[in-house]
Amino acid sequence: MSVVRPTQRFTSSQLSAGGEAFVRDAGRNLILALHGALKNLQLYPPENAVVQSAIADLVRVSDELRLVEGDLEFRVAGEFIFVNSTRLRLDFDNYATFTRVLNHFRESGVGELKVLTRTEPRDWTVFISFLLKPVGDSPAARFEMLRGRFQSTHVTAFEIAPPVESEDDQKHRSESKEVAKQTYSKSVAATKEVMNSMRMGQSPNLKKVKRVVQGIVDQILSDEASLVGLTTIRDYDDYTFTHSVNVCIFSVALGRRLGLARVQLYDLGLAALFHDIGKSRVPSEIINKAGQLDENEWRMVAAHPWMGVLALFQLKEATEFPYRAMRVAYEHHMKRDVTGYPRSMRTQSIGFYSRIVACADGFDAATSRRSYQSVPMNPADVLAELRDNPRRGQDPIVVKAFISMLGIYPVGTFVVLDTFELAIVHSVNPDAAFISRPMVLIVSDDLGNVKHPGDLVNLADRDAAGQFARSIIKTADPERYGIRVGDYFL
Ligand SMILES: [Fe+2]
Ligand SMILES: [Fe+2]
Repeated sequence: MSVVRPTQRFTSSQLSAGGEAFVRDAGRNLILALHGALKNLQLYPPENAVVQSAIADLVRVSDELRLVEGDLEFRVAGEFIFVNSTRLRLDFDNYATFTRVLNHFRESGVGELKVLTRTEPRDWTVFISFLLKPVGDSPAARFEMLRGRFQSTHVTAFEIAPPVESEDDQKHRSESKEVAKQTYSKSVAATKEVMNSMRMGQSPNLKKVKRVVQGIVDQILSDEASLVGLTTIRDYDDYTFTHSVNVCIFSVALGRRLGLARVQLYDLGLAALFHDIGKSRVPSEIINKAGQLDENEWRMVAAHPWMGVLALFQLKEATEFPYRAMRVAYEHHMKRDVTGYPRSMRTQSIGFYSRIVACADGFDAATSRRSYQSVPMNPADVLAELRDNPRRGQDPIVVKAFISMLGIYPVGTFVVLDTFELAIVHSVNPDAAFISRPMVLIVSDDLGNVKHPGDLVNLADRDAAGQFARSIIKTADPERYGIRVGDYFL
């Protein structure tokens, strides 16, 4: 049986204090209460006791918020939820709840719900039952139906409005993107410094590296899409450093999906950032060599996993250095069945962190342009390859989580639409049901006129007839169309 998660009750001093922190906590409670009501009303009839207690919770939380704040306005914009202009934070624990509530509002064309007066349980029951009605009509049509429903059932406590993207929303979006950009470039610079100092035999500043990893973890927990989007820049000149940072970002995001806690994500991120540290002991002419490596050169490259372990051991602060990072450096090319390199007689299976990093590494390496790979593979094809080709030696569960994170068409995939427009995948669809219908940036219209910065559209959007307005026909090579994917993520 489904049970409503109890929402936190506030003390009278918290209530009288009000303010942004209060709104954030109370707003979170409101989402939990909405989610509880949606979940239970989907399973049971309105007169059921579980449903009634969920609705009563909703009445209490919303009335409390409205009384303390003077008014209550619940607004969804893009991937964000606002309560009285305070943006609610999305974190690991409430990700699924947020997304579900967001999608119900979006599908019914509701951008804003104002609670005007004290509410009765019946008001919420009418509203929630409507949100749960099977989707068949366009959001705009559903919005009008809901408005009619409020009138016919004499629900006057609510006022609804369709979604609008205000200047504030755009500001939030661009601020979040700005922070992500800074995190990314700082991470690349610090990684460069560390690797170069190790190459010269010096001991690097580990505190700095730890701060980099912390920055990446924090950013992923607050806004995963912005940072993951930046991995598509893939600067050729800085491949070694951007590769390490990308593998760190993918690993942390993946670890989060697989249920790791924040401290574990720090460990995993550090391990991922250092996975190729052994390459600092291989001559750079070999690392950067264009074309085939001869046998001897290959042997040197293939030694980087255990060279990495040695390098980590020789760090001044090695005692503080997690053993797991050494294991990742050693195992990341071993493959799940231990048929990769280095050959090991003893290892029976590779560690969990190593599997995560191996998946992130395999993806980033194959989608990047490197000295010995002039044509990077399309991200969507790489994912299919990691999933379907057993010789890649990936853990199927990790790859499955990776695909559900990146979507079947990962961020940065260049696609042709059935409208003859060209687009770049911008982010995974917030509704998990639409894994093959991501958010995309239209970068060229049907006549081939290039657009910059491009128009963001949701491929799950329907036209007036209820049909999907746009669908992906195929993935393509952006260079053939003279488009640089990285330009759209800067
Ligand atoms: Fe490697
Ligand atoms: Fe690597």
